[in-house]
Amino acid sequence: MKRLRQLSLLVLLAAGLGLLLVNSAARLAAQTQGAGETIAIIGTGNVGATLGKIWAEAGHTIIYGSRTPDSSRVQNLLIETGNAATATSQAAAAQQAEILLIPVPPTAIPEVIAALGDLTGKLVIDPTNYWEFEGGYPISPRDPRASLAEEVQALAPGATVVKAFNTLNYTVMEDPSRSAGPVTVPIAGNDVLAKQRVARLVKDVGLQPLDVGPLQAAEYLEEMLRLSLGFRELNPGVAFDYYLRVRQN
Ligand SMILES: NC(=O)c1ccc[n+]([C@@H]2O[C@H](COP(=O)([O-])OP(=O)(O)OC[C@H]3O[C@@H](n4cnc5c(N)ncnc54)[C@H](OP(=O)(O)O)[C@@H]3O)[C@@H](O)[C@H]2O)c1
Repeated sequence: MKRLRQLSLLVLLAAGLGLLLVNSAARLAAQTQGAGETIAIIGTGNVGATLGKIWAEAGHTIIYGSRTPDSSRVQNLLIETGNAATATSQAAAAQQAEILLIPVPPTAIPEVIAALGDLTGKLVIDPTNYWEFEGGYPISPRDPRASLAEEVQALAPGATVVKAFNTLNYTVMEDPSRSAGPVTVPIAGNDVLAKQRVARLVKDVGLQPLDVGPLQAAEYLEEMLRLSLGFRELNPGVAFDYYLRVRQN
């Protein structure tokens, strides 16, 4: 009887240890799949606030970098974001995270990147677009081949820049069901692993990532936004979203 009790105890201990190992393996797998990233969001406007709230809900730690981190607007955003999100200066936020999102006006890019300090080793997600019109239609910057993403890369040569989230409106990020179908987020960058990391963040938003190539493709992604912006401008009250179907060739 005593031996039977000892045997049951041993079986219980082994099962407990097994469970512990399975749990840590699952946690490790989740981490390598990108759960629990720390993300600095530089700019607390439409895109920054929207993605901050969604990623916090998905379990990521959000640090907002703002020019006014103590303002009631940003403090309210922290409450809405939850998951112990914090707000600080742009530079302090950048130094506290490995992944940065920079949803700022394109004209502010040189000033913002300079203020962030050394970005060596950081993954910088660039969602920015030019937003200028001539004769009621969006115009390209003077040299369309010099994409904003490449400008960011040139200003932060030690960082890995990935273009993403620029081809859709923030209201579709907020609620992808507005689009009544899947929505693609094309991703461009020179580092495959960085793009995979960004792809997981895209999926967290309920959108479909598609790696479309190197950073030089950012030029086309920025033009894609202008195409949809022009359509919206010419068709008041109507908009389209991009869904890219992949097939075997
Ligand atoms: N709106 C969209 O649907 C959408 C979609 C995709 C991509 N984008 C692109 O994403 C970027 C952000 O768009 P958004 O709509 O979020 O813009 P927004 O609402 O105007 O927010 C931009 C944020 O950037 C910061 N900022 C503004 N001026 C700055 C300056 N001079 N220096 C440093 N920081 C400054 C501010 O944050 P703090 O006040 O906290 O400093 C501001 O809230 C733009 O390049 C836009 O083209 C927009």
